[in-house]
Amino acid sequence: MEKQLVRLFSREEIAAAVKRLAREIDRDSENRSPVVIGILKGSFIFIADLVRNLETPPLAIEFTRLSSYGSATVSSGRAEILAGLPEEAVRDRNVLVVEDIVDTGITTATLLEYLQSYRPSDLKLCTLLDKPSRRRVEVKIDYRGFTVPDRFIVGYGIDFDERYRQLPEIYTIEE
Ligand code: IMP
Ligand code: MG
Repeated sequence: MEKQLVRLFSREEIAAAVKRLAREIDRDSENRSPVVIGILKGSFIFIADLVRNLETPPLAIEFTRLSSYGSATVSSGRAEILAGLPEEAVRDRNVLVVEDIVDTGITTATLLEYLQSYRPSDLKLCTLLDKPSRRRVEVKIDYRGFTVPDRFIVGYGIDFDERYRQLPEIYTIEE
């Protein structure tokens, strides 16, 4: 049967959430510029909008990539870091990790543990979407755009098999 997209968040709702998150990040950063680390690929649109709403200019904008989860990742509880970052980019820095969606938590927990080993002075996590119903490992989310139901989400950078990333709004896929 043809899949149907059902809109979950409009452009206006997304823009308001991004603004609010940027304000929260600004308030906490106390003029100490953060190193912003986006997790590819799903966060690319979110991060572009988020950094343009920050008043505190980022010290650097970096990207990293982890293996997308398959059954192997879920059973091991670990993701593989495909693109690491140099230790100098992280040590003694205020680091802000930006993710599109925290689902099982495995991707962000793996990355945060890796970054923590480089001893940043501060390490925070910002996610546009939080899907808590499927959490496998605990992750502390410092900045959260929306909590979403246990549905497959697409749009605003988030894909289903590489499709739908370009959509400006956020949808669930329904049968
Ligand atoms: P986690 O490791 O299970 O927390 O999953 C993180 C990654 O899975 C996210 O960065 C997304 O790329 C992907 N993901 C999780 N839920 C969805 C969804 O509903 N739609 C599209 N991708 C998703
Ligand atoms: Mg992702």
